[in-house]
Amino acid sequence: MQSAAWRRHLLDHHLSPSTSAAIAAFRSASQPGLAPQGLFGADGARCMSARAPAVKGSGHLVRKGTGGRSSVSGIVATVFGATGFLGRYLVQQLAKMGSQVLVPFRGCEDSPRHLKIMGDLGQIVPMKYHPRDVDSIKAVMAKSNVVINLIGREYETRNYSFEEVNHHMPEQLATIAKEHGGIIRFIQVSCLGASPSSESRMLRTKAAGEQSVFKEFPEATIMRPATMIGTEDRILNRWAQFAKNWGFLPLVGGGSTKIQPVYVIDVAAAIVNSLKDDGTSMGKIYELGGPEIYTVHELVTVTPTCGDEYVLICICEGKKRCDHDWVYDRLS
Ligand SMILES: NC(=O)c1ccc[n+]([C@@H]2O[C@H](COP(=O)([O-])OP(=O)(O)OC[C@H]3O[C@@H](n4cnc5c(N)ncnc54)[C@H](OP(=O)(O)O)[C@@H]3O)[C@@H](O)[C@H]2O)c1
Repeated sequence: MQSAAWRRHLLDHHLSPSTSAAIAAFRSASQPGLAPQGLFGADGARCMSARAPAVKGSGHLVRKGTGGRSSVSGIVATVFGATGFLGRYLVQQLAKMGSQVLVPFRGCEDSPRHLKIMGDLGQIVPMKYHPRDVDSIKAVMAKSNVVINLIGREYETRNYSFEEVNHHMPEQLATIAKEHGGIIRFIQVSCLGASPSSESRMLRTKAAGEQSVFKEFPEATIMRPATMIGTEDRILNRWAQFAKNWGFLPLVGGGSTKIQPVYVIDVAAAIVNSLKDDGTSMGKIYELGGPEIYTVHELVTVTPTCGDEYVLICICEGKKRCDHDWVYDRLS
């Protein structure tokens, strides 16, 4: 309970979208004045594929209603990776503005079930696909006019390497989207710090994925979120769980690593706002960070579950082995 209250406080007071400079960029790009004409581009041709005219998908976009859940925004979006953390918030926001959302999923039919209740009957459509089966990918894109790729992993598995998930999959999706001819927007979610010269192989593959997407679909928009926080995040929850189980939390390098966490709902809003703009975000890369930069130590100490009086933070001064030089720091 304490943790939930704290998280709400942090999100309300420190990470509100109004204070986020990066996300404010999208605010300005989607001024109310632009919205009616700019939803699919004031100049329709700007949003269309340069290589192939729109012949499939929704064709001519029709908008109806006041813009709420039961209206029709004209967007039919295929959201790859919608079953993940960011996916649920993005699908919710797309549905809320009256878009139809196609949710490709692999594995169990339960994985997209929580998304179905976010829209009216028939608005959220789960579709089984296989990421290595080109025909199934074409099938899930066939009726859409927007493709958003959230697929990504920060670890490798026996079946999927970083290269395949973070590089080859986005490349393949962008190629198919371009061939489709009716995809007006392609949004690729990458990662803050993605660079060909990064020390991290994951970030190098993310950068390669971005380059391939731009090569195949030059009008694409790339989003690079920082570490995302929210109810199901994989940072605060992990720390809290670790501290609860073991009674301490190891901080490598004294917890001096800096991070700029961003609220997951703000990232979803940035993606939706880029869809609403007049095409200015096409062909661009946006880095999405929250308003505050914290060291890991600072972030841990403001997390009540971790900052419980019984929890000891073990500060490891060395970067590698640190059996002897741990400093025990009791929090109050
Ligand atoms: N979470 C963060 O803090 C953070 C920070 C920066 C950038 N990002 C990036 O933002 C994007 C979304 O993040 P997230 O936290 O929502 O990720 P997530 O919760 O791990 O979800 C990843 C999604 O990708 C799908 N996926 C993973 N490997 C796949 C594969 N081999 N084939 C097909 N689908 C696969 C998953 O499908 P299944 O459900 O079927 O496994 C899931 O829907 C990712 O690209 C991530 O790299 C995340």
